[in-house]
Order: sequence, then C-alpha cells, then structure tokens
Amino acid sequence: MKAVVYEGPRQVAVKEVPEPRIETPGDAVVRITTTNICGSDLHMYEGRTNVEEGKILGHENMGVVVETGPGVTRIAIGDRVSVPFNIACGACRSCETGWTSFCLRANPTDGVDGAAYGYANMGPYDGGQAEYLRVPWADFNLLELPPGDEHENDFTMLSDIFPTGWHGTELAGMTPGDRVAVFGAGPVGLMAAHSAVLRGAAEVYVVDKERDRLAMAEKIGANPIDLAEADPVEQILAATGGVGADCGVEAVGYQAHDSAGAEHPELVLDNLVKVVRSTGGIGVVGVYLPQDPGAASEGAKQGRIAFDYGSLFMKGQQMGTGQAPVKRYNRQLRDLIIEGRARPSFLVSHEMSLAEAAEGYERFDRRDDGWTKVLLRP
Ligand SMILES: NC(=O)c1ccc[n+]([C@@H]2O[C@H](COP(=O)([O-])OP(=O)(O)OC[C@H]3O[C@@H](n4cnc5c(N)ncnc54)[C@H](O)[C@@H]3O)[C@@H](O)[C@H]2O)c1
Ligand SMILES: [Zn+2]
Ligand SMILES: [Zn+2]
Repeated sequence: MKAVVYEGPRQVAVKEVPEPRIETPGDAVVRITTTNICGSDLHMYEGRTNVEEGKILGHENMGVVVETGPGVTRIAIGDRVSVPFNIACGACRSCETGWTSFCLRANPTDGVDGAAYGYANMGPYDGGQAEYLRVPWADFNLLELPPGDEHENDFTMLSDIFPTGWHGTELAGMTPGDRVAVFGAGPVGLMAAHSAVLRGAAEVYVVDKERDRLAMAEKIGANPIDLAEADPVEQILAATGGVGADCGVEAVGYQAHDSAGAEHPELVLDNLVKVVRSTGGIGVVGVYLPQDPGAASEGAKQGRIAFDYGSLFMKGQQMGTGQAPVKRYNRQLRDLIIEGRARPSFLVSHEMSLAEAAEGYERFDRRDDGWTKVLLRP
C-alpha cells in the first residue's frame, strides 16, 4: 500500500510499504478515508524531534474497519470509525481513570507513558497517512460514527485537534462567562476557541500573527489579536479594562516565536502568566519536549525552559499540561457535530490526495496564506 514516510528534515515521500495485518487478537485494520496533517507533524518534519527515518506518519485518522482480530467483539467489519491519536490499553491505572494519553502499557519507550500513531517517542506504531492502519485494542480505542460519508470533514477533527482544543479549555479550568485568551490560531488554537465559545465564554481572544488564521478566529466569534501590531498582552489588557483574561490556553508549543520570527520557547508561557488574572488557569496543549537538539540555548536543548514561574506562583495560577486524552471528549463532541451545534470543519483549507502529501507538508509548514488545515484522502 501507499504511505507517507519521513525521510529526514523537510522530506516526506509517498512510498510503497507492507500492508498492516492483525498482530494481536484485539487489533483491527482500518481503511483510511481521511487523515490530516497536524502541527505536531511539523515538529518532526522540521527535524526538531528524534523520529527515525522511515517512520510512517499520521495520527489524525478515520475510516472504515476492514478486518478484526478474534478478540474484537464490539467493533465490526464495515463500521465507520474515528481513531483517537492516543493508543491506549483500556486496563491500566491511567486508562481506568480516563487518562488514555498516559497509558502505562502501550508505549515500550523507557520513561514515556502514552502512545500514538506515527509519532516520535510515542511507540513503535505506524501512522495512518496511508491506505490502511492497524489499531491495537480496537474495542476500547475506536469511536463509532454514523455510516455513510456525512460530516466527514467535521468528524475527522475528532481524532485529535477538536478534543485537544477542548482539553485546553478544560485544563484552564474554564467556566461559562469566562474571558478566555487563546495563544496560537493554528488548528489547535482555533479548536480551543471554538470549544470556548461552545462552552459559553463571555469573550474569547485569539493571538497570532497569521492574518488568515486570525480572520477564521473572528468568524467563529472570537476577538483576533495580531501580535505583529503590538504586544498581545497589552492589547488584551486594554480590551478588558486592565483585568486580563480569566483563563488561557497555550496552543503554540516550544517553537513559539516573536513577530520577527525569532524563536523564544518561553514567550507564550510568559505572556499567559501576565495576561491571566490571579488564581486563573492556564491549559498548555502546545507541545514542549524534554529534548530539542535544535533549540537555541543549552537549557532548552534539555527541555529547561525558563519562563516566569515566580509570577505564576505569586498570582496563584494553575497550570495543566500534556497530551489530550481524546476518549474523554470525543463521544460528546461527535454528538455536538451530529446535532449541528459544533462545526469544526470550518478550518479545513485543503483536501488533497495522499500522493500530494509532500506539497501539503511543505505549504502547511510555511504557514502559506490560506493553508490552515490539510486533509489527505488515501
Ligand atoms: N497536547 C496535545 O494533545 C496536542 C495535540 C495536537 C497538537 N498539539 C500541539 O499544539 C500546537 C499547535 O498545533 P497546531 O496544529 O495548531 O500547529 P501550528 O503550528 O499550525 O499553529 C501554531 C500557531 O502558533 C502561532 N504562533 C507562533 N508563535 C506565537 C506566539 N508567540 N504567540 C501566538 N501565536 C504564535 C503560529 O503562527 C501558528 O499559527 C503544536 O505544538 C502541536 O504539536 C498538541
Ligand atoms: Zn495532531
Ligand atoms: Zn492503558
């Protein structure tokens, strides 16, 4: 079958690889109908992780079940499913308590809890930017979708970014009536803003410097804050009479940069500590890594990012972090889509064939104007 393979920094290729097969009784094989390129893939694409060459990429997957192992009883051949990016066993202490993103059994990598498809350090699992994907513990992991192809572009956001954006607001302790500051208007930030609106935010501010992305934020009812125009903290403070936000979401990650494009991994954390009121919450879903060989400082190379922890403490703020446990939210978010209350497909900008993946990566990576979210159709 054909699959998107990582071949080194800024190089991906569509290659012929062996088809996945049932390896353990609980496995299923899914024929992929839609698979998205994620901002998380770009950390690998840019050579800013230790992912190995030859890895099949892709963790935002959905499709139709074509094969099941003898231990699969709930999911059946022909089911249309969303595949959470977390691979979870369903039976360990983390999974039992709903933290499938920190499954204790799925990832054999030393010192890492939690596994995912096609991702650096997240276990030996192939990704789904391919024609077929093997799904371990299929009964536990797969989410059923209504048959057919309705809402395909909405449902495809259920594998990662819609639950991740929602999780950002949850980690931030958001409640109805809050003023919410979201940093990053990439797909994850836009999903966090969409979630905040759905959850009854009084006001949502979305910070970025990409005008096309800010325009999308405005369309879904948020206030765009262009960091290229003036300090985003000052802008939000001015707009809120000096009070700031009740809570905030970090949807940028360790490659955060200033308006001139220079990287400062602590920049967005510092901004959030400043702009969120005392005792407010900050949900960090943008990725930070314990090793970043491409970082500018010695500390940051080892994940030591010097942000203003002193002010965080003095303000009594809460901070929540980490990969989102997709299963905690995906069923309810699916139903919001079915009932027409949520429309996460608003951010889709490009639908391409798998063969065009290299171009999709390149243009999404450059944040070319209008390239907000790329879907691949194997
Ligand atoms: N925690 C999780 O489970 C999870 C899941 C998916 C993605 N992620 C992570 O979320 C982050 C965002 O993902 P994405 O797909 O939206 O990526 P993206 O790279 O497309 O979006 C990031 C956006 O942040 C903007 N940005 C850069 N510096 C900024 C700054 N100083 N202030 C405000 N905005 C700034 C960029 O212009 C860009 O639009 C990535 O780090 C990704 O790895 C985490
Ligand atoms: Zn993703
Ligand atoms: Zn587990």
